[in-house]
Amino acid sequence: MPILSDLSESSPPDDLHDPRDLDPEAFRRAGYAVTDWIVEYLAHPERWPVQPDVAPGALLEKLPAEAPAQPSSQEDILADFERTILPHAMHWNHPGFMGYFSAGGSCPGILAETLIAALNNIGLLWSSSPALAELEERTLQWLGKLLGLPASWFAMIHGTASAASLHAMIAAREFAAARAEQAGASLDLNRLVIYTSEQAHSSVEKTTAALGTGREACRKIAVDERYAMKPAALREAIASDCRQGFAPVAIVATVGTTGCTAVDPVPALADIAAEHGLWLHVDAAYAGAAAMLPEMRPYFAGCERADSFVVNPHKWMFVPMDLTAFYTARPEYLRKALSLVPEYLRSREYDRTVNYMEYAVPLGRRFRALKLWYVFRSLGAERIAAAVREHIRLARWLADQADASPGFERMAPTHFSLVCLRFRPPGASEEETDAANERLLYAINATGEFFLSHVRLRGRYAIRVAIGNLRTTEAHVRRLWERMQELAHADANGR
Ligand SMILES: Cc1ncc(COP(=O)(O)O)c(C=O)c1O
Repeated sequence: MPILSDLSESSPPDDLHDPRDLDPEAFRRAGYAVTDWIVEYLAHPERWPVQPDVAPGALLEKLPAEAPAQPSSQEDILADFERTILPHAMHWNHPGFMGYFSAGGSCPGILAETLIAALNNIGLLWSSSPALAELEERTLQWLGKLLGLPASWFAMIHGTASAASLHAMIAAREFAAARAEQAGASLDLNRLVIYTSEQAHSSVEKTTAALGTGREACRKIAVDERYAMKPAALREAIASDCRQGFAPVAIVATVGTTGCTAVDPVPALADIAAEHGLWLHVDAAYAGAAAMLPEMRPYFAGCERADSFVVNPHKWMFVPMDLTAFYTARPEYLRKALSLVPEYLRSREYDRTVNYMEYAVPLGRRFRALKLWYVFRSLGAERIAAAVREHIRLARWLADQADASPGFERMAPTHFSLVCLRFRPPGASEEETDAANERLLYAINATGEFFLSHVRLRGRYAIRVAIGNLRTTEAHVRRLWERMQELAHADANGR
């Protein structure tokens, strides 16, 4: 049932007396209407299937080939949004959304996004928006403290963890070049290599592609039975590369890998990095939020010895996409690599201020810090931490159900709020089991109640249940478990 039901097909755009923009009163009405729509949307997310049941290209077919030449009324636009666009949207804020890493935004985050758009501040240098620059500095200090990161670290916001990790590797390359220079040598950029685990996110491999050294320059190190990088295999790979004249520059460790939330042994990797003078970057894009909880801190042991660290508050801290927090102990290498200050961007205060453009490829930056500030102000760090703790509890509950059920098995340790499991149809081969689990995943998603995703672990198909939405409760997870069992057994009986 649509939220908007009684709108005329096409009302005239009477809100454009001002030829430049909406009239203030028209904007007020439209703003209230959008707010009302959002309130209803979030109050009853079950109104829509989590995943839209649409074929590729279906929305394209409905959209005109040319941009609208004439204005439409705000009522028409909102109605068209609901009628035409919404049926093709995935409902990431739905409590049954448990795919990828579930990333539900909070209402304060939505309000902050509105204010961000209203101010439309663009961070270039400090003086292009002092509020943006100083709020970014302070909110990232808050976050860093909550996560137990060293207070001395420099921090800045990126749009994605992929962008942050690329910046970490740009700094690592600069660091390696400086070390080579100190030793009276020069770094052969074509021979540069970095190390990460077989389970690392694809964004790590992309960094070497983007740096121009090719994807093969990203060495994928073998993992142990818990999917964590093997330090001995890393040592061997470094030794072998050094013998062949390659130039190791960085190790990228992950705390909470994408596939199954494995935790690399950061203390051992930090030792290896120190021995070889390598940059250590920690990708905690998803799991970093759990460092707020004292009982989860052991998973982050050694992170304080890293050269850089990334966490995505837009994944598991209820900040709407996009907000990545990037920390580094050595910002001078980023600045050395990327600082280019044209005359028009110099100001009298320049040398007394932090100017983020010197530490990043993009010049302009959004006022994302306002979202972090707003969410922290509205929910408070304790509530955010409590929600993360509850998600971990729910994941453990589900993991226990799978362990206790002879028809199911868990495919990886459940460290955080992700459960990797599969159905084991009686007497089925590995290939048949893979196929059955793929069918099960599609059957669950077709219910419209839930959306899950999958991973292959040691070649075998596993279903990922990622809990991380503010609106997901124990009742939702219990219902999912019931539906999974029903659908799995129906599939097994039907064959
Ligand atoms: C561990 C890890 N690193 C990096 C990323 C990439 O995140 P982003 O989309 O912010 O680039 C992901 C995405 O899920 C991830 O799980």
